[in-house]
Amino acid sequence: MVSLLCGVLSLALISTVFGETRDFTKHVNLFLGTEGDVPGSAFRGGNVFPGATLPFGAVKVGMDTTRWNVSYQANAGYTPDGNVTAISMLHVSGTGGAPTYGLIPQMPLTTLEGVNLLDNITYMQPRVGDDVASVGYYKTQLENGVTAEMSASMHAGVMKYQYPENEGRYVVVDISHFLPSIGKKEQWYSNGVIERSDDGTTYSGYGVYREGWATGGDYRVYFCGQFDTVPSNAQFFSGKYTDPYWPNATDVNPVFTDSTYIQGGTVSYQYADRVGALFEFPANASTVTSKVGVSWVSADKACQFLNEIVGWDLNATVEAAKDQWNTEVLSKIDVTSANKTQLEMFYTGVYHSHLMPSDRTGENPYWESDEPYYDDFYTLWDTFRCTHALISLILPHRQIDMIRAMIDIWRFERFMPDGRSRNTNGRVQGGSNADNILADAYVKGLQGDINWTDGYLAMKTNAEVVPYNNFDWEDLSGSTKEGRGALLDWKKYGFVTPTFGRSISKTVEYSHNDFSLAQVAKGEAHKDVALYLNRSTGWQKTWAANVTSLNFTGFLAPTYGNGSIKEYDPLSCGDCNWQAISYEGVPWEYSFSIPFDMKTLISLMGGTETFEERLDAMFIPGLAQSNSGGNRAGDTIFNPGNEPSFMTPFLYNYIPGRQHRSVSRSREIQDQWYNTGRSGVPGNDDSGSMSSWIVWNMIGIYPVVTQPVYLILSPRFENMTIRLGDDGGVLRIKASGLEQGSFIQNLKVNGQMWNQSWVSHEDLVGGEGGLLEFEMGPEPKMWDTGELPPSPGHLGQ
Ligand SMILES: *[C@@H]1O[C@H](CO)[C@@H](O)[C@H](O)[C@H]1NC(C)=O
Ligand SMILES: *[C@@H]1O[C@H](CO)[C@@H](O)[C@H](O)[C@H]1NC(C)=O
Ligand SMILES: *[C@@H]1O[C@H](CO)[C@@H](O)[C@H](O)[C@H]1NC(C)=O
Ligand SMILES: *[C@@H]1O[C@H](CO)[C@@H](O)[C@H](O)[C@H]1NC(C)=O
Ligand SMILES: *[C@@H]1O[C@H](CO)[C@@H](O)[C@H](O)[C@H]1NC(C)=O
Ligand SMILES: *[C@@H]1O[C@H](CO)[C@@H](O)[C@H](O)[C@H]1NC(C)=O
Ligand SMILES: *[C@@H]1O[C@H](CO)[C@@H](O)[C@H](O)[C@H]1NC(C)=O
Ligand SMILES: *[C@@H]1O[C@H](CO)[C@@H](O)[C@H](O)[C@H]1NC(C)=O
Ligand SMILES: *[C@@H]1O[C@H](CO)[C@@H](O)[C@H](O)[C@H]1NC(C)=O
Ligand SMILES: *[C@@H]1O[C@H](CO)[C@@H](O)[C@H](O)[C@H]1NC(C)=O
Ligand SMILES: *[C@@H]1O[C@H](CO)[C@@H](O)[C@H](O)[C@H]1NC(C)=O
Ligand SMILES: *[C@@H]1O[C@H](CO)[C@@H](O)[C@H](O)[C@H]1NC(C)=O
Repeated sequence: MVSLLCGVLSLALISTVFGETRDFTKHVNLFLGTEGDVPGSAFRGGNVFPGATLPFGAVKVGMDTTRWNVSYQANAGYTPDGNVTAISMLHVSGTGGAPTYGLIPQMPLTTLEGVNLLDNITYMQPRVGDDVASVGYYKTQLENGVTAEMSASMHAGVMKYQYPENEGRYVVVDISHFLPSIGKKEQWYSNGVIERSDDGTTYSGYGVYREGWATGGDYRVYFCGQFDTVPSNAQFFSGKYTDPYWPNATDVNPVFTDSTYIQGGTVSYQYADRVGALFEFPANASTVTSKVGVSWVSADKACQFLNEIVGWDLNATVEAAKDQWNTEVLSKIDVTSANKTQLEMFYTGVYHSHLMPSDRTGENPYWESDEPYYDDFYTLWDTFRCTHALISLILPHRQIDMIRAMIDIWRFERFMPDGRSRNTNGRVQGGSNADNILADAYVKGLQGDINWTDGYLAMKTNAEVVPYNNFDWEDLSGSTKEGRGALLDWKKYGFVTPTFGRSISKTVEYSHNDFSLAQVAKGEAHKDVALYLNRSTGWQKTWAANVTSLNFTGFLAPTYGNGSIKEYDPLSCGDCNWQAISYEGVPWEYSFSIPFDMKTLISLMGGTETFEERLDAMFIPGLAQSNSGGNRAGDTIFNPGNEPSFMTPFLYNYIPGRQHRSVSRSREIQDQWYNTGRSGVPGNDDSGSMSSWIVWNMIGIYPVVTQPVYLILSPRFENMTIRLGDDGGVLRIKASGLEQGSFIQNLKVNGQMWNQSWVSHEDLVGGEGGLLEFEMGPEPKMWDTGELPPSPGHLGQ
């Protein structure tokens, strides 16, 4: 009763205090990014999660669907055309690789005829009509006549099922349900326990699962479900273990019991029976509403989380979710535009940038700590480039908390994560990119309660301690769990040799990572600055000045310890995967990825003129030769569908008077590759990476992360007001003449005429904030005659 009153009061308070806050959620399109290039499937799509959740929600409540081609994965559970097998509580958004989660389900049925509860193919439901989704809300109509609506609080989901007249009313809870894939890093059900109240209105317990993208051993997820209606019948069922490679379960029939407790097998037994529950509701209950809490600590906690959902009114939870998205996230950037398409692209991008990681503060099962805790860093390789820089700008306290969580993970597990889900570090695609995220926050002055002494030590662990080799079958050469798997080479030669997988991309990333160490060492360990700056030049040792491709000479090369080069083509990365010479990007592409020392790079490439021509070649159609491990969009060497290419279109800003060419590229890529359709992002959204990329492009600045620097592009909106956190200042960006063109005629920064193609973080946030005033026009103008963007990693003259 008390908690109910509190909930109602705080809701009322929010709408009064922020009474003037507009509803930005109406611009969010939950289906944007849910479909790939094969209509109806999520294959090669954004894999964006379209269900109900809060910012960084611990639960992400949405449905799981089948794929008509089982080799297509549905990493967020959702496919546009699939049949519903369940509504489940845990999902990730935008990931590639292999599905993770799809756990703690319910499935509403109207009949048991022909149904084998151990075989979802016998009860899966096609959808009729179009699903409806808005922030905090999802609704679908199943062929069996059930309308299912759902919403979410931080740790609990609420589902409302409307059953058709004169049909059965069932809810199935299959603890062995998870998102399938085939082969690679497939998840497994391992064990499970359920108990229920005598009357069947509540059930709780845990499921045990393993694998998924992070790989690793078994983990438990606790749950607690409650119904608003007393079931007329409640039973548990169990059946023989079926592993994920088993194509179906048709030869296994469930055994039912009226007992109030069921256990799949001895605790920690990995091949325990599948367990589940079947609830039947009386014929006069045309709707059944259920809440399900999820905890990683205990079933009791999962039950306490049910209090987050006030009463049984789904709408109250929807409204609370909308309020939180508006107040915490979406209202931080207020843009005005008459163009609804652009508003939708923009606010959907902002929304997607704040789904991951998951805030599991207080929910770490493995250690007690006063630090915040986040999980589902999935992965920092993707998100360090754009996503965290956006969070740092508009929600700095969240970024501080995430960094504290990473440092705490280092305290207890010896390494910060690069990827992490279900409380397990893994997997590392290149460098130790938490280093970049910490450095970016450090140079931008984020402090809060970050212990930077420990933060620097955590980075230093990445730079100095060889992580044990987990012998990942995809690349046995070094650890993919955490840290830098090829550190031995890095320390011995100053670069990574092809005896390790992904040597070129690791060399590029380790260089950047060590630059990050140098950035933080400037304040935390001055004696280390020279060491790490020196190490950050490692990429130069693999620069092959005699390699020619497409008329250009000088490329990063797979280089052995004796200086010889492995035969390769700079336009190709083979399968571009874990054992390739470079990961998900070709040497041509990686040869541009030295943002901390563009000065040396341009000089190695032969000076600004050749550099510009070579940059142009990145965008010539038809030159792409590798599909970058399926992560490719388009046929230019520049790949709009994956992160290694993210910054390349804006490198014209490093050439005097050429900023306007970055503007052209930025606009072309936005217009060609981003839209409001279901496949409106190129490739996987990668936990909001593509989404934050488009947000930065539409704002009109691009973060050069690990430096307090932003390249100037071209704003898409006439007026933008960006709130720099809850207690920070305001950054205003104005653009006049946008209707005439996208090129900068002149720019004022904080009232001063500007001739640099970049601004510093201090220019944007210093004091009370900042003011950028653009005057736009149809013709390119060489206004950027001032100092070039810095190259702080440049040593010597
Ligand atoms: C969905 O179910 C319908 C009817 O049972 C079936 O025809 C269709 O093939 C199924 N589609 C998928 C993707 O499972
Ligand atoms: C299923 O997808 C795989 C992988 O893309 C493809 O090779 C195969 O042809 C597809 N099968 C069908 C029936 O479309
Ligand atoms: C559904 O059943 C199929 C076939 O038995 C199985 O591969 C899959 O893992 C099950 N779960 C889901 C969510 O599709
Ligand atoms: C799976 O189902 C198909 C047809 O429904 C059957 O032919 C096959 O034997 C089954 N496989 C297993 C392992 O039960
Ligand atoms: C539905 O029927 C049950 C008895 O089966 C009764 O206890 C309950 O009050 C009825 N509910 C409504 C809403 O009529
Ligand atoms: C819930 O919200 C929907 C859509 O706004 C509205 O149609 C419905 O009447 C609301 N229901 C309740 C019980 O407030
Ligand atoms: C932007 O702000 C200016 C000055 O306040 C105002 O005149 C203009 O109408 C605004 N533009 C839009 C699109 O709201
Ligand atoms: C609105 O924006 C979209 C996407 O940038 C663009 O294609 C369209 O032309 C714009 N509409 C108008 C009326 O400017
Ligand atoms: C940072 O943490 C270390 C130990 O982990 C501790 O000794 C030190 O006092 C902390 N620094 C601050 C400023 O809290
Ligand atoms: C880097 O350090 C090595 C010795 O460790 C030294 O020989 C070299 O000159 C240094 N390079 C630069 C660019 O300072
Ligand atoms: C390379 O040079 C040839 C001959 O001058 C020219 O035709 C071709 O377009 C050039 N290729 C690129 C990528 O610039
Ligand atoms: C370039 O130089 C390297 C190192 O000296 C050598 O191994 C390689 O064979 C040379 N490649 C060409 C194309 O000359």
